[in-house]
Amino acid sequence: MRVNAVRCRICGGQLQECLDFGRQPVSNGFIRPEHVDREHYFRLAMGVCVSCTMVQQLEEVPRARMFHADYPYRSSESAAMREHFERTAAKLIETELKAPDAFFVEIGCNDGIMLTTMSAAGVRHLGVDPSARAAETARANGAHVEVDYFEESSAARIRAEHRPADVVYSANTISHISYIDSIFRGMDVLLAPKGIFVLEERYLGDIVANTAFDQIYDEHFYLFAGRSVQTMAARFGFELVDIERLPVHGGSIRFTIARPGVRRLTAACRDLLTQEESLGLAALETYLRFRARVEHISEELVTLLRRLHADGRTVVGYGATSRSATVTNYCGIGPGLVPFICDTTTGKHGRLTPGSHIPIRPAEAFSDPYPDYALLFAWNHADEIMAKERVFRDRGGKWILYMPHVHIS
Ligand code: SAH
Ligand code: TYD
Ligand code: ZN
Repeated sequence: MRVNAVRCRICGGQLQECLDFGRQPVSNGFIRPEHVDREHYFRLAMGVCVSCTMVQQLEEVPRARMFHADYPYRSSESAAMREHFERTAAKLIETELKAPDAFFVEIGCNDGIMLTTMSAAGVRHLGVDPSARAAETARANGAHVEVDYFEESSAARIRAEHRPADVVYSANTISHISYIDSIFRGMDVLLAPKGIFVLEERYLGDIVANTAFDQIYDEHFYLFAGRSVQTMAARFGFELVDIERLPVHGGSIRFTIARPGVRRLTAACRDLLTQEESLGLAALETYLRFRARVEHISEELVTLLRRLHADGRTVVGYGATSRSATVTNYCGIGPGLVPFICDTTTGKHGRLTPGSHIPIRPAEAFSDPYPDYALLFAWNHADEIMAKERVFRDRGGKWILYMPHVHIS
């Protein structure tokens, strides 16, 4: 067993190194061509805690290098995600936020994809996010946002300036935060006695089942599973009470956490915890097999791209996702194989992908002219994108997907 000198960030237990993707850049560090010498690299390696089972990174990227005023990701680029958050907000309003003075706090609200529904419904709310440009959009759409990192100190300030929160919600953010002990101490200060903490994240069970290795990148510091989150919540004085699987982002999971004894454990929560027992999510062998599958995908993908290139076929990337950083850098895919990637996010246009330095162009470049093949990095939005780009297929274009294995569709 390879035990790492780094200890578990949750419980201080020993970490068994289970995956190593080598030197990787900051995944949302889309750079201007003149700044290619300024990139920050780190070793992207994962370990599994022998004591609490949490899967986590062994080397941490300082938070200010990832999340800052110009963080380029914008949640609202996807119509499917806009609908998902509208539905989520509506459900919380109906079930948890009925009292006229109910207070909703969101950690990592980005461009207000969730908060605008709260605001429109007249719910008292506050978003916290260090991404200032994204917060400007949220505010322009009627949301209240504090530009800051959520942690113990900001939680205490929010509690003092407002009131205890009935719901603290966070999507695709808590797993990004290595200093999670501070989040839970903040939760203890901020959450009302009967309040709930709801978090949505990629699900480790789906990552393993789909060999979704591109879900592993700097921002996903922890890869959550039911059992590891249950143990973590208990360690910090809370209780995991409900779990819901979600189809979004290629396989997500929603955890509901409360103060101990406040809510009964749901049957869905118990069922998933039981199911997980046979998945081997804390076993080293699971990741050794995962690693072998990743190698296979990587070889097949590069072989395919090289063959298409040799045959004179044109290939364009679709979706300059954070996740594509791991794929392009690990597999060694640069502008020689994929000359550019189309993306709707204006803040990414004219920039290069981190490490692999593939230029990013507006979505309109896709049809000007259509390529023979499109490599779909945003595979989690496949239905939405393929529907939008119907004409590409009608004219003989083909999509290349690499999850859960390399195939042409
Ligand atoms: N909730 C949105 C955005 C996810 S992107 C969605 O699901 O689409 C992650 C967001 O978390 C970014 O906007 C980033 O700026 C923010 N973030 C990172 N660390 C944070 C922290 N400590 N407190 C609050 N927000 C944080
Ligand atoms: P996403 O998969 O949400 O996340 P991550 O960055 O966490 O891996 O990123 C989707 C990217 O794809 C984002 O940059 C926006 C882009 N996109 C398009 O260009 N067109 C589309 O129709 C959609 C849905 C997304
Ligand atoms: Zn641990």
